[in-house]
Parts: sequence; structure tokens; C-alpha cells
Amino acid sequence: MQITEAPLAVTLVVGSNRHGRFGPVVADWLLDRMRDRDDLAPDVLDVAETDLPTTFAPTAEARAALSAVTPKLAAADAFVVLTPEYNHSYPAGLKNLIDWHFTEWRAKPVALVSYGGLSGGLRAVEHLRQVFAELHAVTLRDTVSFHNAGTSFEEGRLKDPTAADAAAKVMLDQLVWWGLGLREAREKRAYSG
Ligand SMILES: Cc1cc2nc3c(=O)[nH]c(=O)nc-3n(C[C@H](O)[C@H](O)[C@H](O)COP(=O)(O)O)c2cc1C
Repeated sequence: MQITEAPLAVTLVVGSNRHGRFGPVVADWLLDRMRDRDDLAPDVLDVAETDLPTTFAPTAEARAALSAVTPKLAAADAFVVLTPEYNHSYPAGLKNLIDWHFTEWRAKPVALVSYGGLSGGLRAVEHLRQVFAELHAVTLRDTVSFHNAGTSFEEGRLKDPTAADAAAKVMLDQLVWWGLGLREAREKRAYSG
């Protein structure tokens, strides 16, 4: 039996906002992998393009900033979070974006893609798992990580895409499995958390 389901709405969260950042190179590669598939409908939320205050207060400024951000999270069935590693963790701007939201993450899967120096951002990934568990989101077992990321790409392209493409396929297959399952579950019954 062929089951036809609407593609999974996935928001790619680009987590770095540093001036001169490398993040967009990895984000473009990742977005291409997502666009290659007909079971995903990707959208992008770039932390660098948000203007969320770091003081939590329901000001007009905060509401205006949130109006450009929250709908992209709320509409997503699943997330891919792309993070670099800063001082053995993930960037402050990404934490701020996460903290401004709650229900938007809940009962949804999160795939984690990282880059950095020697560690490939894996310490940032493990910190994000703790944060997303608190938000009732499900982080996937498999990740994609780029060690010494700057040397892996040349003119915006991976020098050898074989391993990364294969890892992305495994991770995105898992994202689809969890995303479709949780979308159906959320439609059938309210999440109890
Ligand atoms: C403030 C800062 C701290 C960093 N700390 C680490 C680190 O702890 N481990 C690591 O592997 N790389 C570290 N790096 C290297 C970054 O992960 C790498 O430069 C990456 O490209 C940064 O992402 P971006 O260019 O998108 O900002 C650090 C870079 C910055 C700017």
C-alpha cells in the first residue's frame, strides 16, 4: 500500500551570528541535502537575521522581533539545528532564540548538525540535547559533524562529500520517521507534558 503524506515541514535553524561567520557555507550544503528530498519541505530561520532582546520582557520591541521568528518555529513539524562550537558549547544567540519559545519545540524531533575545530562541535551538540530535553523535544541519535570545518570545504563545496552526504541521509531519514510519527500523534491526541 502506498501511503501519500504531506512532506514534513522542517525549519533549519542556523545557529551562528558572528560577523564573518562560516555557518552559511554549512547551511547551504545542508539545505541542498534537504531540498534533494521530496519528503521534506524546508524553511530557514537564521539567528543572525533575528533581533530578539536578551532581556525577557513583553515589550513592543520583543513582540516585533518574535513576530518574524515564532511562526517559523510554530509551523515546523521538525527541526534541524546547525551549531558551531564556541568555548565548548553553542552560541549565546541560539540559546536566546531557544529560550524565547516553549510550545513551538514541544513533542517535535530535532536533528543536530555541528561544525568547529578539532571536536567538530560535538560538545555543543551534547549541550543542546540537555536543553531540548527540558523543552519536551526529541533529539536524534545520529548527527552530522564537521571537524576543522574550514578545511573540509573549498569555494563553498565539500572537498569530499561522500561521508557527510551519507551521514546526512541517515540523520534526515530518522528525522522523517520521528517527524511523521510525532505529527500524527499530535494530531490524534494532545501531548500530556
Ligand atoms: C568565541 C569562539 C569560541 C570557539 N571555541 C571553540 C571550541 O571550544 N571548540 C572548537 O572546536 N572550536 C571553537 N571555535 C571555532 C569555531 O567553532 C569555528 O571557528 C566555527 O567556524 C565558528 O562558527 P561561525 O564561523 O559560524 O561563527 C571557537 C570560535 C569562536 C569565535
